Amino acid sequence: MNRAAIYAGTFDPITLGHLDVIERAARVFPRLILAVAERTTKVPLFSLDERVAIARESVAGFPKVEVEPFDGLLVAYARAKKVGVLVRGLRAFSDFEIEFQMALTNRKLAPDIETLFLMPNEDYSYVSSSTVRQIAELGGDVRPFVPEPSRKALERKLGLARPGFAAG
Ligand code: COA
Repeated sequence: MNRAAIYAGTFDPITLGHLDVIERAARVFPRLILAVAERTTKVPLFSLDERVAIARESVAGFPKVEVEPFDGLLVAYARAKKVGVLVRGLRAFSDFEIEFQMALTNRKLAPDIETLFLMPNEDYSYVSSSTVRQIAELGGDVRPFVPEPSRKALERKLGLARPGFAAG
């Protein structure tokens, strides 16, 4: 196992809350792989390629972070990468139950892989990708919640030029 960590998710699209977790994890680990899940229980707005491209552009300022797509079991991907730590953000108490379930399932599947929880800045504790998508679809301003590549991608995807999408 090497000293890298994996931060996996759907990232549909990546938000400032995700970037906050990435920044914290990058302070702890010499290398962080942002693993974008191909398969998800949700129907994503963006294709896998789009989610990867948006995330790549958004983390361009983080030299320790690389973005990769993955499919299948997360622990199998981690083993293939020889990475022993999975990073997760714990935003609020409501995240706990599902995170607890995922961490223990992953531990059962791969006892050699640890899940490490980081608490995002409280400013982002309520942000989620689906809220952002809904705000965008309803013409709201997404700039307080997402990096510029996500905002632009939402604009392109929804084919809109509305007040909330005004550049700069
Ligand atoms: N800031 C902002 N939003 C955050 C966040 C943060 N710090 N942390 C989580 N979220 C949001 C996401 O935006 C997403 O919002 P949405 O549901 O409104 O779109 C939601 O919380 C959950 O997203 P995420 O953390 O990306 O988890 P996920 O459920 O999309 O992905 C995987 C979970 C991909 C890591 C998990 O399903 C997995 O490991 N899949 C592989 C298959 C596998 O191994 N299964 C067995 C393991 S249990």
